[in-house]
Amino acid sequence: MLQATKKRLPAGLRGYLFFNATEIKNDPIGFYNRVWHQYGDIVCLPILPNYNFFLAAHPDYVEHMLSTHQERYAKPDIIKKPFSLLMGQGLVVAEGDYWLKHRAVMQPVFHQKYIESLFSTMLSCTESLIQKWEKKPDGEVIDIAAAMMPLTLKIAGLTLFSTDISDEESVFGKAFRTGFEFVSYKMNNLPTEPMWAPTPRNLRFRQAVQTLDDLVFDIINNRRQNPTDNHDLLSLLLAAQDEVTGEGMTDKQLRDEVITLLVAGHETVSSALSWTWYILGQHPDIGANLLLELQAVLNGSSITYDKLPQLQYTRRIIDETLRLYPPAWGMPRIALEDDEIKGYFIPKGSTINICQYIVHRHPEFWDNPEKFDPDNFLPSKVNQRPKFAYFPFGAGQRICIGKSFALMEATIILASIFQRFRLELVPQQIELDPTFTLRPKNGVKVKVWKRS
Ligand code: HEM
Repeated sequence: MLQATKKRLPAGLRGYLFFNATEIKNDPIGFYNRVWHQYGDIVCLPILPNYNFFLAAHPDYVEHMLSTHQERYAKPDIIKKPFSLLMGQGLVVAEGDYWLKHRAVMQPVFHQKYIESLFSTMLSCTESLIQKWEKKPDGEVIDIAAAMMPLTLKIAGLTLFSTDISDEESVFGKAFRTGFEFVSYKMNNLPTEPMWAPTPRNLRFRQAVQTLDDLVFDIINNRRQNPTDNHDLLSLLLAAQDEVTGEGMTDKQLRDEVITLLVAGHETVSSALSWTWYILGQHPDIGANLLLELQAVLNGSSITYDKLPQLQYTRRIIDETLRLYPPAWGMPRIALEDDEIKGYFIPKGSTINICQYIVHRHPEFWDNPEKFDPDNFLPSKVNQRPKFAYFPFGAGQRICIGKSFALMEATIILASIFQRFRLELVPQQIELDPTFTLRPKNGVKVKVWKRS
């Protein structure tokens, strides 16, 4: 196949990427947007002679790399190494047969029937936040992004292993935050000091991991000795078995998956919701439609699992938020072999950033792409678009295992809070912070008003 092409690289930067280092560090999304406008849907960004980085920003490339030819691509070390410091060999970083085996063991745990059993935990966490807010004076200003983070962390801890780790002062919460911030630091500052160096940052991280290990192994041990019928993911993971060999997970594997699910499962949802509140504050007309749906379906009562399918406009708001502000805004892959995509040569070893942020705004697939329009997700519109024009949860065999969990959680939180409170956006400058998930840099300040 490759002989047919003359190994034609896509167009791109003349100089080395290194010369754009400051722009990339300060505004990576702006940089990718610029080169995309300049060079098109696949862009070559040279790093060294014969070593290139690529930007891929078209559904055909997404489909090729994540689905039809996914075996030719893997997650690169720049992602895996920092994550694995905290997650060990958890699902996000695992590769090859090890990943396949673990995904097969874990997939049933994320079956809708089990996700359904987590509904009441998600709702009660949300309602306890609502009760706190009900005691606040009307018009109080809060940072809604900062409020979403402990809520989603609380939900993650309780649904995973029935423990609230959202408390700022909890040992687990502190250690987890230290670990999480360290991973973010490692990803965003290349190069960094080696792990063996006894720097205060490294020592703090080692201590945090030790604390997390002690606590998680303790929980696992207790559960093994005293099996409970806790409705949490850990109970299901403990019981999960390889269909062929009948083997379950070892303590170390369970530990890695627990930490992985905590990391992958809380900030993503929190970022998505932060953007939703920001957008609703900017679009009172969309808020009014949302309220009409909530009144019609819930009529002031708490949301129930069977009402979820009726909250279609609510869901379209979440889908549209994930289009314009995808928490995972780019997905790097490394080419495991020489490849060719639509006549372009992708040499083995190249890194490619498959960019949700740009594909989700590609004018070929979205009318008026910058406009927030929940109707982009009406079935008639969805059916007209290529499947890979929208992939906030990734695609192919490595698609997010927590997608249904995340969508249920976001719907519960949005519907429950919105029907009790009006959030008024305070005038402020909102900037993108793409350093980990895509989140609003300085939060989102809103005034909270109770609805009468
Ligand atoms: C709005 C919320 C979320 C978004 C936008 C999101 C996005 C993603 C994306 C894009 C991937 C694929 C990464 C890649 O292939 O490079 C992924 C993988 C993953 N996500 Fe999520 N995620 C969300 C919520 C969750 C939740 C709630 C959980 C767990 C409860 C979770 C657990 C995972 C795991 C374990 C993987 C790795 C799957 C594998 O490689 O087999 N995510 N997520």
